[in-house]
Amino acid sequence: MDASVLLALRDPAGVPFYPVVFQALYVLTWALHAAFVLLALGSMGLSLYGTFRQKSDPIWKILTPHLIQTGKISVSILIVLGVAPLLFTQVIYDPNWYVANTLSGMWVFIFIYSLVVGYIMYYWYYYANKANTGGGKLIGIVSFLILVFAGVLMHNFAVTSIMPNDWMNMYAPNGVVDTSGLTFNMDVVRLAFMVSLSIPVVGIFLQNYSRFLSTRDDFSKEFISYTASLGTKLAIVGFLLSAVTFALWMLQIGYLLHPLSISIVIGVVILLLMVAKNSNSYITTGVLVVVALLISAMRELIRFDIMAKLGYSIYEYPVNLEIPSIVMFLLTFLIMGGVGVAYLLTMSWKVGKSKDVFDGSKDVAVNKLGNYTLSIMILWMVIYFGWGMAILFNNIL
Ligand code: HEM
Repeated sequence: MDASVLLALRDPAGVPFYPVVFQALYVLTWALHAAFVLLALGSMGLSLYGTFRQKSDPIWKILTPHLIQTGKISVSILIVLGVAPLLFTQVIYDPNWYVANTLSGMWVFIFIYSLVVGYIMYYWYYYANKANTGGGKLIGIVSFLILVFAGVLMHNFAVTSIMPNDWMNMYAPNGVVDTSGLTFNMDVVRLAFMVSLSIPVVGIFLQNYSRFLSTRDDFSKEFISYTASLGTKLAIVGFLLSAVTFALWMLQIGYLLHPLSISIVIGVVILLLMVAKNSNSYITTGVLVVVALLISAMRELIRFDIMAKLGYSIYEYPVNLEIPSIVMFLLTFLIMGGVGVAYLLTMSWKVGKSKDVFDGSKDVAVNKLGNYTLSIMILWMVIYFGWGMAILFNNIL
C-alpha cells in the first residue's frame, strides 16, 4: 500500500486538535469499553452456570440473579463506552476505519442487529429467571452466543483496519471487485487473549462483590467466603490463561520483548499475586485498570507501527485548531461526565450498602450531587443548542 493512498483517504478538513490527544483519549476510552465488555461476558457466562445450580444451591440462588443483573447493566455501559473510541479512531485513523467498514459493510449491519437481538434476548433471560428460578436457560445461552458473536465482528473490524497491504486484494480478489461487504478477518490468538480476560475480570469482580457485601449482616458468612474464594479461583485460572495467550500473541507478531509487552507481563504477574492473596480487592482493581490501559496502549502501538511503516503517521495529520469545540468537549467530558458519574456511583454505593430501601432524597450527598447534575445538564443544553443556533443563524442569515 502506497502512503499517498492512505494520505488521500484522510479528512481534508484536518483534525481540530493535536492528534496525540485523540490518541491518548482512544487508549483511555477503549480500555473502559473493554473493561465492561469483559465484565459483561464474564458475569453473563458465569450466570449461565448458576442457572443450573441455583435450584438446589442457596448460594447460587442469590448469586445468579446478581450476576445476570451485572451483565445486563454492563452491556448497556459497554455500548455507551464503545462510542468514544469509535469517534477517536475515526478522527485520526479514518482511512483505516472507513475502509474496514466498507469492506465489511454487511457485517456492520449484522453487528447492529446482533446487538439489538442479543440484548433484547438478554432481557428475556433476565425476566424468565426472575419469574421462575432456573428459567430462561436456553434464551440466556443464545443471547450470550449472540453477544460473543458481536465481539467477534468487532474484532474483524479492528483486524481488517490494520491490514492496509491486503485491502486491494480484499476489495478485488483476482481483479474482480467484491461488493458483498462480507470481508472477514480473524486473528484467533489475539481474540482468544481478549476474550480470556473476561475470566479474571469476573473473578476480581466477585472478590469486590464479596468485600462490598461483607459489611451487610443480611448476607451469611458462608456466602461471603464462598464468593470470595470462587473469585480467587477464577482470577488465578483466568490470569494464567490470559498470560499464555498474551505471550503467544506477542510471539506471533514479534513484540514479546518489547518494553510495553514486558510491562504487561509484569503487571499480570503482580495481579496474579494480588488475587491469590486477596487482601484488598479494591486495590487489585486499581492495578487491573493500569494493566488494562497498558493492553490498550499495546493495541495502539501495533496499529501505529503498521501505519508508520507505510509512511502514515497520525502526528503529521493536518491540524486545524478549533479551540471552542475542544473546550466544549473537555468541559462536557470532565465536568458534566464527572459530576454525573459521581452522582450515579455514590447512589449505587449507598443503595448496595443499605439493608432497607434507600431513600436518596433523605441523603445529603446524593441530593447535592443530583441537583448539581441536573443543573449542569440544563446549563449544558442551553449552551449547546444556543451556541449551535447562534452559529447556524449567523452563517445563513
Ligand atoms: C456485545 C457487544 C460488544 C462486544 C462483545 C465488543 C467487543 C470488542 C472487542 C473484543 C474488541 C477488540 C477487538 C480487537 O482488538 O481484536 C472491541 C473493539 C472495539 N469496540 Fe467493541 N464490542 C461490542 C460492542 C461495541 C459497540 C456497540 C461499539 C460502538 C458503539 C464498540 C466499539 C468498539 C471500538 C471502537 C473498538 C476498537 C476498534 C479498533 O481499534 O479498530 N463495540 N470490541
